[in-house]
Amino acid sequence: FSPKVLEGQHVLISAGPTYEAIDPVRGLTNLSSGKMGFAIARAAHEAGAHVTLVAGPVSLPTPRGVGRINVRSALNMQKTLNVLSQNATVFISAAAVADWRPMQAAEQKIKKDGSGQVPTLSFVENPDILAGIATGVRALNNHLFCVGFAAESEDLLAHAQAKRKRKGVPLLVGNIGPDTFGQDDNALLLVDEQGEMDLPRAPKLTLARQLVAEIARRMPAPKPI
Ligand code: C5P
Repeated sequence: FSPKVLEGQHVLISAGPTYEAIDPVRGLTNLSSGKMGFAIARAAHEAGAHVTLVAGPVSLPTPRGVGRINVRSALNMQKTLNVLSQNATVFISAAAVADWRPMQAAEQKIKKDGSGQVPTLSFVENPDILAGIATGVRALNNHLFCVGFAAESEDLLAHAQAKRKRKGVPLLVGNIGPDTFGQDDNALLLVDEQGEMDLPRAPKLTLARQLVAEIARRMPAPKPI
């Protein structure tokens, strides 16, 4: 990446799914592969940033030069991101966080007792990690540039703009579906206060580099020393 457009920036990225335990051996997750978030981590490192990746359970190698912390549940991910975001200048929330978690994970494996009875699960809503961090940024007037993602099945532009405002972030990236999960290619729609911008279908690393350049363009100029 030349020039190093994110030199001096601390970029925090969440990636992959979360895993919400039902009991010690079972849980709920989703099909996020983590590939987009990992590609962004690589691109941000190439662009000269100090990069920390907070990853849900995925089987992907850590990009060279990137720091990685593995997490499992949404609450686990939130705790880690809340702490690390205090020292970051950019937060890119690419993780597919579970919307709900089982109300209480059983301490022992739930047994099939042979009676044909099936267990019932009750859920509670997980916190919105990104919205929480963005709210904190506004309250403290912090310099943390927050970027959200959205996977929508229809009417991407309208949903992406609405989501950007609801989450309180300056930039939201829509996955132009269908089925980007696990693929090596993607197409993105960037929405910000000014409007929209298409990044046409390309390998995720190519898109990640373009996204990094777009983020860099929106960052406040570094203060002269
Ligand atoms: O609301 P939705 O899940 O579509 O929003 C997607 C964006 O919000 C992504 O950037 C995702 O990482 C983030 N998110 C979050 N915490 C949640 C749900 C989503 O940070 N509980």
